[in-house]
Amino acid sequence: MSTPPRVLVVAGSARNGSYNQKLATVALRLAEQAGAWVTPVDLRALDLPIYDADIEARGMPEGARRLRKLFAASDALLLATPEYNGFPTPLLVNALDWVTRPVAEDGLPSGMAALTGTVAGLLSASPGGLGGVRSLLFTRQFLQMNLGMLVVPEQFGLALADQAFDDAGALADPKSLASVDRVVQSVLRTTQALKQKQA
Ligand SMILES: Cc1cc2nc3c(=O)[nH]c(=O)nc-3n(C[C@H](O)[C@H](O)[C@H](O)COP(=O)(O)O)c2cc1C
Repeated sequence: MSTPPRVLVVAGSARNGSYNQKLATVALRLAEQAGAWVTPVDLRALDLPIYDADIEARGMPEGARRLRKLFAASDALLLATPEYNGFPTPLLVNALDWVTRPVAEDGLPSGMAALTGTVAGLLSASPGGLGGVRSLLFTRQFLQMNLGMLVVPEQFGLALADQAFDDAGALADPKSLASVDRVVQSVLRTTQALKQKQA
């Protein structure tokens, strides 16, 4: 029997009390309940500067190496990102840009190779009525066409996110929970199918 899917759970928000962090945590719990091995990643804690080739020339930031290592040790990504003017956040794009830069060394693949083949599921949350879904098209394109991830077709944008969670962080509307679960289950199914093919 193959090992459970190893799933990174990431929120693209740089805000305490983030709705996307709450949504990511809901997804994390669902993945965990389904038997996945989950690892939450705090992008802010990586403390990555805005990408700068001169900084890179002085040495790869530790946070980029850490994130590369996390991707190298994972099968899948569950991502909840806010929409900033119809785009995924600079925090997210910058962190992934940095991950593409470390070369293969110390038995680890290059950052790019660590990202390629990762199965990804996309979520977003916004106090607005569209739930941030406009950005998901760009996020999908970025992850899939540039980083070589396999983004599952299912996705979900949580609208009116400021009213969507109870005090314990649970989604009040069962339909929203079911929509998150559809993304999570698709990611886990696809990951297992790929593992079986490779076995
Ligand atoms: C620079 C900026 C641009 C934003 N643009 C959008 C937008 O295009 N669509 C949207 O629904 N909300 C937009 N918002 C509002 C965010 O959805 C809101 O701040 C949300 O709380 C961010 O997610 P978080 O709670 O996970 O941090 C924007 C916020 C900022 C700071």
